[in-house]
Amino acid sequence: MSDRSDTKKFPEGFYWGAATSSFQTEGGIENMDWAKYAREGRVPEIGNACDFYNRYESDFDIAKQLGHNCHRISIEWSRIEPVEGTFDEKEIKHYLDVLAALRARHIKPFITIWHFTLPLWFSESGGFERKDAPEIFARYCGYVAKKLGNDCRHFATINEPLPYASNGWRRGTWPPFKKWPGIDRIGVPGYKNPHSSKHDVSWRNILRYFRVLKQLAKAHNLAYDEIKKNAFGAEVGIVHHVVLFHANANPINKLLAWFMNWHWTHQLMGRIHHKCDSIGVNYYMHKKFGDTATYEKTDMGWDVYPEGLCNALLLVKRYGKPVWVAEAGVADAADSIRADYIKRLIRCMHVAMEKGVDVRGFMYWSLLDNYELAHGYTKKFGLVEVDFKTQERKIRPSAYVYKEIIEHNGLVD
Ligand code: BGC
Repeated sequence: MSDRSDTKKFPEGFYWGAATSSFQTEGGIENMDWAKYAREGRVPEIGNACDFYNRYESDFDIAKQLGHNCHRISIEWSRIEPVEGTFDEKEIKHYLDVLAALRARHIKPFITIWHFTLPLWFSESGGFERKDAPEIFARYCGYVAKKLGNDCRHFATINEPLPYASNGWRRGTWPPFKKWPGIDRIGVPGYKNPHSSKHDVSWRNILRYFRVLKQLAKAHNLAYDEIKKNAFGAEVGIVHHVVLFHANANPINKLLAWFMNWHWTHQLMGRIHHKCDSIGVNYYMHKKFGDTATYEKTDMGWDVYPEGLCNALLLVKRYGKPVWVAEAGVADAADSIRADYIKRLIRCMHVAMEKGVDVRGFMYWSLLDNYELAHGYTKKFGLVEVDFKTQERKIRPSAYVYKEIIEHNGLVD
């Protein structure tokens, strides 16, 4: 028998599960910006993805089999509002069926109303650079809340405003591919696009970047009110990707880290925390100024540093809200580091909780291998391996390690 004296238990009722997003898994979504850019060869083709639109029931069976008691999905805006101001009841019915499938398996649903992709009518008319974008977004969120609010009690408005704006308007790696030339001079970690070399390069893009960030904060705040009106009593938050900036002992590096954390986390949270019942934290990467250590790398080329989750969670403690780890995970095709990575994440989450962060649940990214943004199908984040030709699913060994943690409601070693 294993020695269970060193267990790290979580509070009763703690939620454990995984996250997915619509365009990365569902397949068959053509009426949106990423699909259009895929047709133009600027991002990889999406195609049928995991065919999750048709296979969600059997995928939730797998989640159930793995012990999950919560699951985070996103709603595809271009399905719900394919034409400006026209909403598609048939697609709402689809998501109601998805929620019913989760309920039938006693898996608690978390909905993110928008995860990166824009309906074509919106992106082609300026997207979040449009003056009235916040109002348009809030109207969409209100509609979704009205239709799905009886079947789901946890909504997040936006997935990751910072990477969205940063990759779209500073790095130029994601739609709408606007690049600020200064980005190459600051070594901040982020998403690459091995696919597209075409950018709209301009120094003015930095101004657009800041404007889009403001628009997103306003969109969240308006959407919060709309969701509250339409889904009475539902919990509404945002999902924020925390890049953890830290430093060696050098005071200049410490100042740099302080400034970057202010810009990346506190500037956004300062604008929206009064309209958040909870905060979703996604954690994948850190940047330590003045660091000379070398790190093992994930398949994304990111440092293997799950320990950063603890300080990432502590960064949002000051807002005094319940926190969900809405995503954390690793691209690891060989499944050689995933189990250890998950254990280390969970250990650090426990430390953050001991230090007073009110964490309520943990959702691994992702249940399935899926369309990893500008890397297409080449990066494997899944607890479950997907063969994209046959749609066959194979549970990876690390998924069972996570299952054991869930069954024990804590770490065993
Ligand atoms: C995003 C996901 C993405 C994951 C891994 C997160 O920032 O929300 O859509 O697949 O990171 O890169």
